[in-house]
Amino acid sequence: MSSTVLVVDDDRANLESVCRIFQKEGVSTLAAANGQEALELIRRPDVGVVVTDLMMPGVDGQELLKAARAMRPDVEVVLMTAYATVETAVAAMRDGAYDFITKPLKRHSLVKAVQKAMEKQALVAENRDLKAQLAALGTRTMVGQSPAYRAFMELLQQAAPSTATVLLMGESGTGKELAARFVHELSPRVKGPFIAVNCAALPETILEAELFGVEKGAFTGAVARKEGRFERASGGTLFLDEVGEMSPSAQVKLLRVLQEGEVERLGGTQTIKVDVRLVAATNKDLQREVQEGRFREDLYYRLNVVEVRIPSLTERREDIPLLAEHFLRRYAAKNSKPLRGFSEAALPVLENYAWPGNIRELEHAVERAVVLCRGDVIEPHDLPESVRKGPMGSGSQIIIPVGTPMEEIERRVIHETLRHTKGDKNLAARMLGIAARTIYRKLAAEEESKDAAPRAELPLPATPGRGSG
Ligand SMILES: Nc1ncnc2c1ncn2[C@@H]1O[C@H](COP(=O)(O)OP(=O)(O)OP(=O)(O)O)[C@@H](O)[C@H]1O
Ligand SMILES: [Mg+2]
Repeated sequence: MSSTVLVVDDDRANLESVCRIFQKEGVSTLAAANGQEALELIRRPDVGVVVTDLMMPGVDGQELLKAARAMRPDVEVVLMTAYATVETAVAAMRDGAYDFITKPLKRHSLVKAVQKAMEKQALVAENRDLKAQLAALGTRTMVGQSPAYRAFMELLQQAAPSTATVLLMGESGTGKELAARFVHELSPRVKGPFIAVNCAALPETILEAELFGVEKGAFTGAVARKEGRFERASGGTLFLDEVGEMSPSAQVKLLRVLQEGEVERLGGTQTIKVDVRLVAATNKDLQREVQEGRFREDLYYRLNVVEVRIPSLTERREDIPLLAEHFLRRYAAKNSKPLRGFSEAALPVLENYAWPGNIRELEHAVERAVVLCRGDVIEPHDLPESVRKGPMGSGSQIIIPVGTPMEEIERRVIHETLRHTKGDKNLAARMLGIAARTIYRKLAAEEESKDAAPRAELPLPATPGRGSG
């Protein structure tokens, strides 16, 4: 038994004897001679269980129980009562008492009741921790360690707990929706709804009806009154996806809602207060949309209170293996395939593709590979052809004129790959699908021929660092 037991009884002799019982069990106790005193002591965080007499002048056991449930819902209450008041005790249990014991008290049943109350408390606490861990796991499915990703996450974590509108800017597939959910989950509104609306997916009038709601008879077809998503998101978060696609008329209405904090259903006259935290996302350059007159400037400033740019996958290449492994685990489990990972040759293929579709494209490539894979590791041929043959990424392409000798092609490809891997010969070898020792051998041979060629013509002074072996 770990926490402190608060014993409450107006009968001094009983109070002392109960305290002594627990002390003998090695449990620390606090004593209160009446309900009023107990109300003070119950605030102490070490108090885990209250053992209280039911009938007391002033604040009685039942009131104390109610106060305890309100102030310290984690505290369990055990009632002590005489036979005559068993019915009251039953009522008290309905109010949330953990147990009751009848007087005259038996040492054994007293200890047992408190012990069980503490066990229950431990279970509840454990359950709560596990739930928190699960929730954290859910949010942690955002994977990344690169500096670009960390900077982005830091900003997101800072903005999330506030009520400020967050504008997420990122290329398609960078994780805008996931980021929006993350903001919601990290905000005090986590228990409220998260409602998403894709402004690009709905025609203008339908979008307005969806957002603001419709009064019955507002237009032909509006046969019933319909709540808008603003109303449904009240107390939670509304995610406006592809906000850059909103029509001018919807923009005006949205601006008004943001200014007034209330919506008016289409065809309605009544205004409805809404308490909504807004997260908006776009893959457009909204500032440019403003400059070119397609997006209202005043709305833009309302939306970009906190502007968060999500890095593209090429800006966070270091995260590719991490993300790929993450998706591999997910889809291997989903398809019941016991895959070990990516082969030495497959990973560099992923690392060097340009990923125009960002994380979503990577996810699909890995899912497909998992499904197609026959061995226990994913090989390059399991990856989509576009990825295998795709661009190596900016600044990493070489143009080789037709008719270039193979030896020269090989030399250029090796050097360009080495430039790309910043001199890492092992990585370069993996990317090229050859053994590392082949690269070392070829480079050494090159050095030799370089050394040999000029020496044949004119004897140069020995260059330091250029070894003979
Ligand atoms: N950091 C991350 N870690 C793991 N998975 C991620 C991460 N970011 C995004 N994803 C996954 O990538 C996929 C695309 O993400 P999401 O739908 O949020 O992108 P988006 O920017 O909204 O894309 P679009 O512009 O196409 O709507 C989703 O399956 C999402 O779970
Ligand atoms: Mg999206």
